Amino acid sequence: MKHRLIVSRQIAPDVAATIAAQYDCPYEGKEMTAEEVLAAAAAHKAEALMITSHVRWTGELIARIPDHVKILATCSVGTEHIDIPACKARGLPATNTPDVLTECTADLALMLMLNAFRRGHEYDAIMRAGWRRGYGLGEMMGLRMWGKTLGILGLGRIGRAVAQRARGFGMKILYAAPRRLPPELEQGATWYQDFRAMLPHCDVLSLHAPGGPATADIMNAETFALLPRGAVFVNAARGALVDETALIDALKSGQLYAAGLDVFKNEPEFDLRFAELPNVFLCPHMGSATVETRNAMGYRALDNIAAVLAGKPPIDPIWT
Ligand code: DGY
Repeated sequence: MKHRLIVSRQIAPDVAATIAAQYDCPYEGKEMTAEEVLAAAAAHKAEALMITSHVRWTGELIARIPDHVKILATCSVGTEHIDIPACKARGLPATNTPDVLTECTADLALMLMLNAFRRGHEYDAIMRAGWRRGYGLGEMMGLRMWGKTLGILGLGRIGRAVAQRARGFGMKILYAAPRRLPPELEQGATWYQDFRAMLPHCDVLSLHAPGGPATADIMNAETFALLPRGAVFVNAARGALVDETALIDALKSGQLYAAGLDVFKNEPEFDLRFAELPNVFLCPHMGSATVETRNAMGYRALDNIAAVLAGKPPIDPIWT
């Protein structure tokens, strides 16, 4: 007998093929609302739910998950869309997919950074419009990224992978975190316990902290003003960390030279004011969007599901 599974959103084709072979799953590859997931779970007597961060699983929704569901497995490293205390209260194992998306998310952060420093979006737009006029040596200049000072909020797995890449660009690394890391993880980076104290020293700031109450709007009019005038800002973490009106003001006023953004407060209905600004490079939340990583995330979620349905502990529990 195959285990019964509901998948709440389109997943990588290889993972979908594995699920088709190994699970009893009415997968249609469509994006489901929480209500649709709950209805499908009940109708299919699902034993496992594979979800993503596109739906917020509130305590009320988690309380309505049928008892035959033995695990809620999110295909994401982020977990702020899940009411973890509610899962814990009813003893529902919940898991995420850490580690496997570290490198690709760090690659994307560097892509955002380089494009912000070097006006990638504007150059691409010029070429697509046909170019035809050569630029003088004083026109369309970006800023050099090499050798700049990079401040990182959160030197966790992804933050450290960004730091590793940035060192290849001769960058000096600062980081803000509640606790100092051991030297083998710090790799010469300078620690600031106080995030605000780090900001005046950053030529570029890159956010790699989780969402949640502790970081909500941590970048706001006041903190953007603490950066040196003309700094670059990168966010491949969560839109919830940023007051977007303050960010737009900073991009318009020149307080920020440019920004590279992969995440927004409201996705996919992001604030269209960003699209009008020339000095922002935009991505539609694609940090983990490579074949390799999306496969790895799907398989990691399936490993967690298989473990729990076999009566073993989850591999990546988000509560204990
Ligand atoms: C994650 O894994 O948290 C990514 O941001 C995709 O949601």
